[in-house]
Amino acid sequence: MTSSDTTATAQIGVTGLAVMGSNIARNFAHKGYTVALHNRSVSKTDALLEAHGSEGKFVRSETIPEFLAALEKPRRVLIMVKAGDPTDAVINELADAMEEGDIIIDGGNSLFTDTIRREKAIRERGLHYVGAGISGGEEGALNGPSIMPGGPKESYESLGPLLEEISAHVDGVPCCTHIGPDGSGHFVKMVHNGIEYSDMQLIGEAYQLLRDGLGKSAGEIAEVFAEWNSGDLDSYLIEITAEVLRQVDAKTGKPLVDLILDEAEQKGTGRWTVKSALDLGVPVTGIAEAVFARALSGSVAQRTATTGLASGDLGTKPSDAARFTDDVSKALYASKIVAYAQGFNQIQAGSNEYGWDITPGDMATIWRGGCIIRAKFLNRIKEAFDEDANLPSLIVAPYFRSAIEDAIDSWRRVVVTATELGIPVPGFASALSYYDALRTERLPAALTQGLRDFFGAHTYGRIDADRDKRFHTLWSGDRSEVEA
Ligand code: 6PG
Repeated sequence: MTSSDTTATAQIGVTGLAVMGSNIARNFAHKGYTVALHNRSVSKTDALLEAHGSEGKFVRSETIPEFLAALEKPRRVLIMVKAGDPTDAVINELADAMEEGDIIIDGGNSLFTDTIRREKAIRERGLHYVGAGISGGEEGALNGPSIMPGGPKESYESLGPLLEEISAHVDGVPCCTHIGPDGSGHFVKMVHNGIEYSDMQLIGEAYQLLRDGLGKSAGEIAEVFAEWNSGDLDSYLIEITAEVLRQVDAKTGKPLVDLILDEAEQKGTGRWTVKSALDLGVPVTGIAEAVFARALSGSVAQRTATTGLASGDLGTKPSDAARFTDDVSKALYASKIVAYAQGFNQIQAGSNEYGWDITPGDMATIWRGGCIIRAKFLNRIKEAFDEDANLPSLIVAPYFRSAIEDAIDSWRRVVVTATELGIPVPGFASALSYYDALRTERLPAALTQGLRDFFGAHTYGRIDADRDKRFHTLWSGDRSEVEA
């Protein structure tokens, strides 16, 4: 049905019909829902109807009043517009015309603090506001994404079943659950993207080690990744790495990856993750290195000026290619575990800070399918949090503890070899340093505290005194110690 009549027949409305919005609308329609369609420029709505109108029941609308009139009450409207100002404009227009109990769902990559602000404003108007993280790209939107809806619990009663139905399913379990109040859904989506950055950076480092450390071609490295994808590293990103590396440029006959500019772009979610982690005091070193590595790759003027700087004496390439390849896979796996451990720590810290009461194991469950970071080992993360919901770090859970134990020697060898060969591995190296720091009994932070006390009388605690007691050395006096 592609009518413009205004009887309320639609269970869900989608406004913002770029590729993601169109695909989600089609996904709802494929599941038997009647979907009201709206877009600021009607030509997009018509293009969707023209190409896919026969796939299900859609209701065309030209204006917001027409769009809302097509929806059953309580109305459920999914906004799929660009994050930022366009979102506020659409929300206001909708809220002005909506009625108590109606639900506005923001399915874009909005900043969680914007979502907190919007949810409060909309709640005060008697409406429900749901910030829902949606992952899976265009393909996921159409065939089953991973969905992370926040917002009021009551809204999930009417909205949840629809979202669960269109989400991906793993072992019959939907990759969608209510995350918590207000901005929690967009917060966990942001961390998901941070982990995605880290995963991609680590994959990039593994690729460069095989390329420059062993002299392998893109095609050969594709086969290595394809093989890794049948083991512990089994994941969507490893799978598509093989695909991208296999791709041959039609014009030149060369591997496409050798022709793509080596400048990684970013839209902002990785940067948001790191900023939030700084505020929360959670070291997400793997994500930070990934964000900075993209920034470095894109600083063209600087790279032009610095390419070819002295390397010093470089070591020799590994003589045993098979062993080195195996070492790289283990270093990749261990570094990946660290990145997820850091991301989950950030979710726990965010949940505490904002009072969201997030169940970390639920994130592992809904990230098993549909999303960009879907991976076999998320089952292991789920099991770890099922065993202990307050796990201080994933790396102490028995499975991950022994996985790292199994990888540690390889991991060290890879970081040493990379250093000797002058191959940058910020992700592998920082993950290893983070791991070493966590397992170290005494950190140099004692000296940091000593220095702070010296120049700023910032005081310090002592290992042989109560934790709440503070001391100060009279550095510019007789250097005796006083209790502060
Ligand atoms: C997803 C993706 C999606 C998008 C990223 C890309 O989960 O489906 O993460 O949200 O592709 O925003 O982010 P960058 O442009 O910053 O790499």
